[in-house]
Amino acid sequence: MRFDSRGGEITRRELGQAALGAVLSIGTRPEARSASTGAPGVDELARWRADFPALNQTVNDQPLAYLDNAATTQRPAAVLAALLEYYRHDNANPGAALHALARRAYEQYESARRALAVFINAADPDEVVWVRGTTEGINLVASAWARPRLRPGDELLLTVAEHASNLLPWRLVAEERGATVRYLDVDDEGRVRLDDLDRKLSERTRLVSFSHVSNVAGYINPAAEICARARRAGARVLIDAAQSAPHVPIDVQSLGCDFLVFSGHKMLGPMGVGVLWGRRELLEDMSPYQAGSNMAHEVDFASQDFEHAARKFGAGTPNVSGSVGLAAAVQYLRSQNQSALESHEAKLTQYALEQLTDIRGLRLLGPRSAANRVPVFSFVVAAHSPAEVLQHLDARGIAIRAGDLAALPLLKRFGVTAAARASCYLYTQITELDRLAAALRQLTHGKEST
Ligand SMILES: Cc1ncc(COP(=O)(O)O)c(C=O)c1O
Repeated sequence: MRFDSRGGEITRRELGQAALGAVLSIGTRPEARSASTGAPGVDELARWRADFPALNQTVNDQPLAYLDNAATTQRPAAVLAALLEYYRHDNANPGAALHALARRAYEQYESARRALAVFINAADPDEVVWVRGTTEGINLVASAWARPRLRPGDELLLTVAEHASNLLPWRLVAEERGATVRYLDVDDEGRVRLDDLDRKLSERTRLVSFSHVSNVAGYINPAAEICARARRAGARVLIDAAQSAPHVPIDVQSLGCDFLVFSGHKMLGPMGVGVLWGRRELLEDMSPYQAGSNMAHEVDFASQDFEHAARKFGAGTPNVSGSVGLAAAVQYLRSQNQSALESHEAKLTQYALEQLTDIRGLRLLGPRSAANRVPVFSFVVAAHSPAEVLQHLDARGIAIRAGDLAALPLLKRFGVTAAARASCYLYTQITELDRLAAALRQLTHGKEST
């Protein structure tokens, strides 16, 4: 891959201007929100595009078409500006009753926690545990909740569609404790099979852990229904919301889960920050995951007084800038016209499905219908490996992902061991999907026309 140097310079210069603009407009965004409903206007689409400086570059002499959003998204200038502002003015090791900067850092950190609690409709900000991302959140629950509770003969119920980060932590803790991991099947398009859930749930099931949206199939599983059935059977439930939180409104109270985890970097926030939400009574009942400063008072040779709920899991100096950046991402997302966002994603989904399913030799792995789906499309192309597909697209400035997508069991369920994946976000344009389809047609038909 070659980055065009002129594109790089433009991006950096524009970043400065966009960041300044974003600082000035932070807080005014909700009022500036378009009053229109339904499909976004041309202006709205152009603004979503302009808000993301990294999109404004060429790769291999072509305008970048960034279609790798399920792996990580780009950041709007408002998020970059919030990070810059924090480090320029407020950076300190946070403390509620210390010097001015420490107090400011503390207030920003806690205000970010409140913003994230609102984003997922948590009853209490003390249920919001800051983690590095989905992977760390799941490991935390596996270590601090499952390890001391699992007994030989207990069962953990996952699905065959889980990402490695929602598979390996459970397998390891189950092996250690003599418990068994069972896997729910999915249908041929990757939807969790509720009939299999009923068959496999039993009084031995201690936990059901599943992805709200698979990072391969893009289908939105009926999470509230799965939670209700699991809880009726007496099991706890963890939702891996890494791929749903960026696209679907999350309400932990109406979902009825016990834990829910997601990563900031997949929804416009910084890397290295994410959220584990847990029911307060469960968090209170769990032992610490890591120990050190900030999660206990009166630490002495023989005693300590642990913090309560989520705060018990915040050992060491926190990632304040990460939390501030994620709160800015949430503010950005919430300040957009929600029906325009929804309608744009629905249009991208419908259009991409039409284009991709029309390409001879391309097999889509996931539902062919746009219903209950996010714009994430995995596929294989006859006679071309996913790595070849990726290289062919990269040479045309189109960024996708290829490989086992950290979901080998699901790929095997589909009869393959690797796939290519194109994934969209609010800034994706229909013309980029046209370019994707044209480039894929060229690969399969030997000509680059739509
Ligand atoms: C469904 C799902 N779960 C978990 C993860 C792990 O997320 P992270 O690497 O941010 O911890 C991912 C990342 O791709 C994912 O798609």
